[in-house]
Amino acid sequence: MDVVISSITDTNGIRVLELAAVDGAALPSYEAGAHIDVTLGNGLVRQYFLCCREPSSAGYRIAVKREAGSRGGSAWLHDMARTGSVLSIGPPRNAFALAPQAGMHLLFAGGIGITPILSMAYTLLRRKQPFRLACYVRDEASLAFSTELRASPLAPYVEVFCGLGPQDTAASIGKLLAAAPANDSHAYVCGPAAFMDAVTAQAEARFGASALHKESFGAVPASGTSEQPFVLRLSRTQCDIAIPAGRSALACLQDAGINIDSSCEVGVCGTCRTAVLDGVPDHQGSLLSAQERKANNCFLPCVSRPLTPVLVIDL
Ligand code: FES
Repeated sequence: MDVVISSITDTNGIRVLELAAVDGAALPSYEAGAHIDVTLGNGLVRQYFLCCREPSSAGYRIAVKREAGSRGGSAWLHDMARTGSVLSIGPPRNAFALAPQAGMHLLFAGGIGITPILSMAYTLLRRKQPFRLACYVRDEASLAFSTELRASPLAPYVEVFCGLGPQDTAASIGKLLAAAPANDSHAYVCGPAAFMDAVTAQAEARFGASALHKESFGAVPASGTSEQPFVLRLSRTQCDIAIPAGRSALACLQDAGINIDSSCEVGVCGTCRTAVLDGVPDHQGSLLSAQERKANNCFLPCVSRPLTPVLVIDL
């Protein structure tokens, strides 16, 4: 559907955009943690979390940090987008939802990772469910939505940590986790990979893997198997595709004229997900849960490769 940018606010390299339906119609409803695909004016498709105060069909809000290594997404939205520009978006999708059964919610946001976490905080506030929100930023100026986070009604639930090194970050995470009941707390994290790893290690140890929820739309680290060629066997198409070192399975499938949907191409949206019939995938990206990774029955060809020389998929 088409949306128009109804307002733009720039603060310290973070651009907040409000979106409304071009025809004034209601936008699809969503829950905290949802994201949308946005087709930019340069043809790129990028995913952005919805970060409204209240999920509302009247309009969406997204926030975009200008990334130094931008592959064209944040740069286009910062340099080319204007109030009144029209963008095409997909319906909200949610792979990062709040756990309804949790007695306590611990929200960890690293940098621009605050975007889905902010929606969660507003939702928990509205539902009167216990939560704490810990924001980790380089300095105060880097704190997106600082006006909202520093004021009522969120402020009493929020702690902001500025400029901590790895050890102090780990120590503060441990303290927050230790203060929450081990039996019915859930932790949520979004942010840079190192920050997510720091939260993951401690949260899984305290609450268990099923009580940890994480999401990152950042760059995906290169796979340890990225230099290994392999054969992708397509069971329904009945052909083998040779995937050389350094090229993604998705790119090779597309080169071969195989029709496969894709969107983010960094392993976060699930559009390219395919079923595995034989072989062992080396999962990459942040979409799959620990259970899905262990089950080894699906594969994201945009980022993942196999640990076996041949991977048979249902395609
Ligand atoms: S295209 Fe998004 S996970 Fe593969």
